[in-house]
Amino acid sequence: MDDMPHPAVTYESYLHLDTLLSLQTPRSEGPEHDETLFIVIHQVYELWFKELLHELDRVMALFRSDEPHRAQHTLKRILTILKVLVAQLDILETMTPLEFLSFRARLEAASGFQSGQFRQIEFVLGAKSPAAVANFPAGSQSRLALERRFAEPTIWDAFLRYLSREGYPVPSSHLSRNVTARVEPSTEIQDVLLEVYRRDVKSAEICERLVDLDEGLAEWRYRHVRMVERTIGSKPGTGGSGGASYLRTTMGRNLFPDLWEIRGRL
Ligand code: HEM
Repeated sequence: MDDMPHPAVTYESYLHLDTLLSLQTPRSEGPEHDETLFIVIHQVYELWFKELLHELDRVMALFRSDEPHRAQHTLKRILTILKVLVAQLDILETMTPLEFLSFRARLEAASGFQSGQFRQIEFVLGAKSPAAVANFPAGSQSRLALERRFAEPTIWDAFLRYLSREGYPVPSSHLSRNVTARVEPSTEIQDVLLEVYRRDVKSAEICERLVDLDEGLAEWRYRHVRMVERTIGSKPGTGGSGGASYLRTTMGRNLFPDLWEIRGRL
């Protein structure tokens, strides 16, 4: 038995505010006023990314345990967070190109391109690439987490397996597909989904939430690239890419192509 009195939990101790609020350390001389905003925004994003991964893991577990209502509820939460992530870009857009330039050089080669959690979210949603894994130093925490996600089934795989257990004729080749590859459109899956939409309100609602998710990520990419264009124009990124021209190449590809294809056949 531990007889030592424990200090009462306080708001500050519970949230580790001492640590949290000591983590914003500008690198510019002065420091430049806007660098604080830049750091805070990115840190807040990373916290939300952490929460999104926590909730995405939950959705997949709920699919596995055949709890569609709770999966749908969790998807709703994920989508609400995604809206906040998109809306947050408005704050950063109050920073002018010159304000950003006042400290940009101090970022050196640092870039959102190196966000391991963003890549993990992409991987869970099915946008996997071995090149993205290779960008992280071998053996690092980020690399290990990403390697694990790369090998795991995506949210789409979890959903198809759930539909199969519900009695839908999902071909076994899809249930045992190579989960490290991107999901390619399939007329067989589209036939299954058409049945779902016509007969099964509950699962059709989940499909609609997945479309929301697809749209939500596309919206983030669009708003981010527009922000990049208005802030640095056609300059290359600090992460070494062509900048906006590279970011444009990441757009326009759907995460769940079959859910888009069926719209023309409904
Ligand atoms: C002034 C603000 C910003 C600018 C100018 C900017 C610029 C860029 C550029 C040029 C890239 C391409 C990679 C490179 O060469 O660096 C990039 C990638 C990225 N940025 Fe930003 N960014 C900004 C804010 C943010 C914020 C607030 C986030 C939130 C976490 C973010 C997350 C990302 C992510 C995740 C990528 C990788 C995207 C992909 O590869 O699909 N960025 N950013």
